[in-house]
Amino acid sequence: MNVHALAKPAVLTQPIYEPGKPIEYLARELGLGVETILKLASNENPFGPSPKAVVAAKAALDRGELYPDSGCHGLRQKLATHWGLQPDQFVVGNGSNEIIELVGHAFLGSGDEVVMGAPAFVVYKLVTLLFGAQVVEVPLRDWRHDLSAIAAAVTSRTRLVYVCSPNNPTGTANTETELLEFARRLPAHVIFVFDEAYAEYVRNPPDLRPLIGEGRNVICLRTFSKIYGLASLRIGYGYASPEICGLLNRVRQPFNVNAIGQAAALAALDDHAFTEQCAKENHAGLQQLECGFRRLGLEIVPSVANFMLVRVGNGAEAFDKLQREGIIVRPVASYGLPEWIRVTVGSHPQNDRLLAAMGKILA
Ligand SMILES: Cc1ncc(COP(=O)(O)O)c(C=O)c1O
Repeated sequence: MNVHALAKPAVLTQPIYEPGKPIEYLARELGLGVETILKLASNENPFGPSPKAVVAAKAALDRGELYPDSGCHGLRQKLATHWGLQPDQFVVGNGSNEIIELVGHAFLGSGDEVVMGAPAFVVYKLVTLLFGAQVVEVPLRDWRHDLSAIAAAVTSRTRLVYVCSPNNPTGTANTETELLEFARRLPAHVIFVFDEAYAEYVRNPPDLRPLIGEGRNVICLRTFSKIYGLASLRIGYGYASPEICGLLNRVRQPFNVNAIGQAAALAALDDHAFTEQCAKENHAGLQQLECGFRRLGLEIVPSVANFMLVRVGNGAEAFDKLQREGIIVRPVASYGLPEWIRVTVGSHPQNDRLLAAMGKILA
């Protein structure tokens, strides 16, 4: 029997996530060494992980024969101190992607609606569809989440509302005042998922903890993949009420977060000097790219994150041409932006290399 006939219908129609192209693939295609390739496609940290996190990760590997702490107790304890919350107000995942999936497991079924901005991080849509729920997309306004339109799209069937700030792929943010006001007006049957994967790059990111204190259904998502430079270890977390975290912890698999990631994350949280330096470099890099792209006559979307949208005319063509220069960026046609590419802010020399290559391919 055709195995497709045995699959759940949502699996057959499930769109497939397209990750940034790995460095090794392009190196192989071009017959070049991996060290010559520059990847600015997945909003990774150009300065790597904190050296303290690397030491901790290596030490954890020495006890690689043991299962990890399934409840991430040490990390939740440290996060609780970091945030001034309780350890039972955290759920740790295999990347914050896993938390998005856990939210689906816990709360979504067929007939439910999930309201989200468009374009916004595509995984919200993928998970919604996987659980047989319906995606309700609300176009951004001036590149930012249009919170009034999102509120207006909520119905009695809405179960979740996603807001991403700074938003991927636009790098734009909503203010704390507007987010708090928006959340306080949401009906009680809606869970507000606030994705702040890039918040550490923002000088004064919104603080939605008062909403948790008020007993509202909100969960905030964070990741160690971006400013902490630990994307390969797959570790992210959510903070919310003990009730929401309890439900999410119930539907996750045991040992979902490996011990190396837990040890690295613990050490990374302590290295404030490293994250501050990365945020500072990123800020300078944003200005460098913004000036450089403007000098090339290219439109950009002003960003507060560690990436930027640039209008190149034909995104797929620019992606191809940049690849031939050994640079991997992200085409964003799948986000409905075929004229644009998304580039990660690199180190100063990496940004220079990107700008020089852009000048060359546009000439
Ligand atoms: C907005 C946003 N949320 C969540 C994630 C997932 O991050 P991770 O699963 O690596 O923690 C990403 C990754 O690019 C992202 O851009």
